[in-house]
Amino acid sequence: MHRRLVADLIVDVPDWPTPGVTFKDITPLLASPGGFSAAVTELVSGAPGDVDLVVGTEARGFLFAAPVALALGAGFVPVRKPGKLPRETYSQSYELEYGRETLAVHTDAVPAGARVLVVDDVLATGGTVAATVDLLRRLGAEVLGVSVVLELGFLGGRQRLQQLGVDVTSLVT
Ligand code: PRP
Repeated sequence: MHRRLVADLIVDVPDWPTPGVTFKDITPLLASPGGFSAAVTELVSGAPGDVDLVVGTEARGFLFAAPVALALGAGFVPVRKPGKLPRETYSQSYELEYGRETLAVHTDAVPAGARVLVVDDVLATGGTVAATVDLLRRLGAEVLGVSVVLELGFLGGRQRLQQLGVDVTSLVT
């Protein structure tokens, strides 16, 4: 029931941001109190046990990762686009479905051995999460898995992350 509601509130936008790409717009989901709450509730209920930190990637990942962290009683760590974090960072570049991007994290953001869950809005090619996992492992984190609201199965993100030893949980595929 929850997942049906979530699915119904994600809107397809054809040919955006470039021709041939169908953008999944989560803003109607965020604008729906019931829908947003359902998405966070489902992400929390599927989370592994004993999560120390929830990691979200800029920008849309923050929107789900922060409330999941609060609900789990875990901390929140932002993985950000370049030039945003004020102290020493590790950074990692990766290919997106439409372009190239770099992500960065503070070098002291995660204590070695911390149990970390990555939360994002959409899993497409898996490039964003793969880069995030790379950063977290450089910090010595134990990556428990990744939870996303929407998985675009045809882009192979799940398989890519499985090769890295990362389990994927998605609410809608
Ligand atoms: C989107 C989305 C995911 C990522 C998924 O972020 O929020 O993080 O792409 O794609 P992938 O699995 O192919 O890496 P985007 O980089 O567009 O940034 P935004 O959240 O700032 O809009």
